[in-house]
Amino acid sequence: VNDASLADPRRQAAASWGTPLWVTDLDDATANLARYRAAFPGALIAYAVKANADPQLLRRLVNEGAGCEVVTGLELALARRAGCPPERIVMNGVGRTDDELRTALASGALVNAESLDDLSVLVALAGGFDRPRIGLRLNPALDAETHPHLATGAAAAKFGISLADLPAALDMLRGARLSLAALGAHIGSDIGGTAAHLALVDRLADAAATASSAGLAPERIDIGGGFASAEPAALDAIADAAGARLGRHRLICEPGRSLVADVGWLVTRVLRVQPRADAGLTYLVADAGMTDLLRPVLYGADHPVALLSAGEALPPATRVDLAGPVCEAGDVLSRDLGRWLSPAELARAGRGALLAIGRAGAYGAAMSTTYNGRPRAAEVVVEDGIPRLSRRRETLDDLLARDL
Ligand code: LLP
Repeated sequence: VNDASLADPRRQAAASWGTPLWVTDLDDATANLARYRAAFPGALIAYAVKANADPQLLRRLVNEGAGCEVVTGLELALARRAGCPPERIVMNGVGRTDDELRTALASGALVNAESLDDLSVLVALAGGFDRPRIGLRLNPALDAETHPHLATGAAAAKFGISLADLPAALDMLRGARLSLAALGAHIGSDIGGTAAHLALVDRLADAAATASSAGLAPERIDIGGGFASAEPAALDAIADAAGARLGRHRLICEPGRSLVADVGWLVTRVLRVQPRADAGLTYLVADAGMTDLLRPVLYGADHPVALLSAGEALPPATRVDLAGPVCEAGDVLSRDLGRWLSPAELARAGRGALLAIGRAGAYGAAMSTTYNGRPRAAEVVVEDGIPRLSRRRETLDDLLARDL
């Protein structure tokens, strides 16, 4: 993990384009996609664009056969721009404008209704289009083991049509002489283990039976995303259950994180050392902060840290935390670096040290902001071990471009 060789593309990239910097390995992302394709042959693997919309990453995944899961008109446009054919696009979203829905229906994408209210709007709009493809996203009332903010399938969450409302939704579709293009759910994100997804397969099988007996057999079943990683054993377990209970339906998966999290790094340099002897700790202040990677402060997420190249000597400390430069006391990227770095590495992690924060390929760059007047970092992709710029660093002019 602590690959400090000169050949490390993350080091090369930092030398070429500066820090903070996002580095994503496209070959590793393709390998994750291949795991899904192996576990779910014939399924549509619709990559959740919100996880990371880097243009080169999108293009690569789409070229390798992935579809796109999108939630806004802009994401839909990004998917089309990356070359994704509309029949491989799935659109979700609890609060889309009529314009967004019209554009999505016109494109031929699958558009999922998230509430009866949503469905009534979709049904009203559908008449204007040749072959509108409308699906239902259900709320399966399942508590997945994850951070409360990421539990989208819980009964109290705002997402999806309640199971109790499924018959009413089917009536609305039938009344409008529409077919059911898909039936599915997305139960949350960063979910370890398989229990919640196995329960989901059961609920979707029951829901599909309800739909079929109402004369609306779903064309596809969408099991959403949510896996913390693309672990073949876990994917196989879900695929087996889906085969047993949903055998005759074609599947859709909507993975985001598990395709891209572990293939992306946030590369950052230590700018200052701040000893806090009374608190028994020392802060390394890096040039990346919560404006780049929001996950630690927003969800208490724990990201691994590797030393890419040594900096000045760091005096021994009980605990070393990695902070950002943002004017917020909560701007801490990783606590207790001794969990990730050896004592020898830690001793050289002072000013100038180059660090890589791992598992940053999903919901990292995608959630970055310009708070404190911080331009968004550049993005680099790696192919065959060679780094190349994919999105340039934001400039002052970019930040001023909207100001009248
Ligand atoms: N499908 C739908 C409808 C979704 O809302 C999401 C993610 C996905 C698929 C992909 O889920 P994944 O496979 O990535 O778990 N910002 C949070 C994650 C929010 C996920 C939102 N929805 C984080 O940084 O952990």
